[in-house]
Amino acid sequence: MSQPHILVDPARCDRDGLCIAECPVAIIAFGPDGLPAGVTDAVERCIGCGHCIAVCPKDALTLAGQAPESLPALEKGLGVSPEAAEQLLRSRRSIRRYKKTPVDRALLLQCIDTARYAPSGMNAQPVHWLVVEGRERMLELAGLTAGALRRLPYFLRFLESWERGEDVILRGAPNLIVAHAERAGFDHTVDAAIALTYFELAAHARGVGTCWAGLFMRAANDSPELNQALGLPEGHRVLCALMAGMPKYGFQRLPPRKAARVRWL
Ligand SMILES: Cc1cc2nc3c(=O)[nH]c(=O)nc-3n(C[C@H](O)[C@H](O)[C@H](O)COP(=O)(O)O)c2cc1C
Repeated sequence: MSQPHILVDPARCDRDGLCIAECPVAIIAFGPDGLPAGVTDAVERCIGCGHCIAVCPKDALTLAGQAPESLPALEKGLGVSPEAAEQLLRSRRSIRRYKKTPVDRALLLQCIDTARYAPSGMNAQPVHWLVVEGRERMLELAGLTAGALRRLPYFLRFLESWERGEDVILRGAPNLIVAHAERAGFDHTVDAAIALTYFELAAHARGVGTCWAGLFMRAANDSPELNQALGLPEGHRVLCALMAGMPKYGFQRLPPRKAARVRWL
C-alpha cells in the first residue's frame, strides 16, 4: 500500500494540532486515534504549501513523502532587526548605470533561489526564469523592444533617445531577468511581480543592482520578433522583467517620497 499523503509519526506527534490549525485548505483533522491525519480527499485539495511540515516543532509530519529532515531548518540567530530590514527595503533603488560585465551566475542563482519562496496564489509557483547575459544580447532585445514600441502610442520620447544611441530601454544593463509562465489558465502576473520583488531585494542585499524593465515588459507580448528572440517554451508568455548588473554608483541618502495616504475604517 502506498504511503498516505499526510503521515504522522505517533512517537513524535504531541497532538498540539498546529498542523491542523495552519493548513489553509483544512485537509488535516484529528483521527479516532487522536492523531492528525489527512481527510479523504486530501491529495486532491492539498496545495502543497508545506505549512503542516514547517510548523511542527516535533518533526512528526511527512507530506507527500517529504520528510521534515529533508527541509532546511530556520536559523534562530539569523533574525534581522527592524531597523536593518527597513534600511534594506528603503535603500533599494532603480539602478540605471551599470558596470559592463554580467553578474556572476552563482550570485543570480542565489537571488532566484530566494525568490522561490515568494508567495503565489494557491501556491501555484508559476514562474519560470530566463536570464539574458551580455550586452550584445541585451542590445538585440532593446532594439526589438524599440521596434515594437514604434507600433504603440506614448513612447515617442524614449524612441527619440533610443535613435540617438542612448539605451533608455535596457539602460546599458548586462543582464535581464525575465519571469515567464504558461499563457493558459490563471493570470500569474501578480505572482511574477512578487517573485521579482523578492529577487530585487535579494539582489540588493548582495550588492547587485536592478531596475524594472517596463518598456520591455510592455513590448514583450506584442512582438512576435521579441518572443522569438527570447525562445520561450511553447504556450508561455512574459509576465515581468528586471534589468540587473553591478551598479556603477552608490546612493548616499534616501530620496524623497510622498507621505503615506492612510485611511482607517
Ligand atoms: C512596473 C515598473 C516598471 C518600470 N519600468 C522602468 C523602465 O522601463 N525603465 C526605467 O528606467 N525604470 C523603470 N521603472 C523604475 C521606476 O521609474 C522607479 O521605480 C521609480 O522612479 C522609483 O525609483 P526607485 O525604484 O529608485 O525607488 C519601473 C518601475 C516599475 C515598478
